[in-house]
Amino acid sequence: MHIRLAILFSGNGSNLENILKKLHKKKVKGIYFEVVLCICNNKNAFGIQRVEKYNLKSIIIDHNDYTKREEFDEVLVNEIQKSKIDLTILAGFMRILSPVFTQNIKAINLHPSLLPLFKGANAIKQSYESDMKVAGVSVHWVDESLDGGEIIAQKAFEKKNLSFKEFEDKIHILEHQILIQAIIETSEKILKENNV
Ligand code: GAR
Repeated sequence: MHIRLAILFSGNGSNLENILKKLHKKKVKGIYFEVVLCICNNKNAFGIQRVEKYNLKSIIIDHNDYTKREEFDEVLVNEIQKSKIDLTILAGFMRILSPVFTQNIKAINLHPSLLPLFKGANAIKQSYESDMKVAGVSVHWVDESLDGGEIIAQKAFEKKNLSFKEFEDKIHILEHQILIQAIIETSEKILKENNV
């Protein structure tokens, strides 16, 4: 049983590196995972250096080179389909995706809040500053709604008196755990659907 992964990222890439470290060319729960494709929309992203540590190359597709969202998405879709990817992971990929992408690609997204709360790009700050006593992280299927597809997994924690830095660190620790678990879980589902 073999799962070919694509990872899309935009910046720091700590989740991307965690996937490479824990799953790339490894057999977990009877599934052999291979990261075949790393795509980044930002040529200055630190994640590009992380990818190189694993003897892989990132494909840079800069959204600024396209006038329409759909044109950019089409290039992404072509790359992903060309590489025969089973599952695409958005790990800090800060782009809204059109139906050109969502109707053609099976993808999951990591988000730093307890969805459906605090969608969008400032989730960590909004969740920290809210009156809520708990916060958390989510992984969901990607559809055309912003951070709105079916939720696959969530982890919550009590905010207590954490400083913003402690809060942010806690979010990232939980993200690293939940994303790996969600990739394994969704891969099992994909293989089952394909009768493998
Ligand atoms: C993560 O916190 C992820 O949840 C967030 O970007 C960060 C990427 O960190 N994604 C979103 O906010 C998507 N709406 P990383 O580059 O270190 O993995």
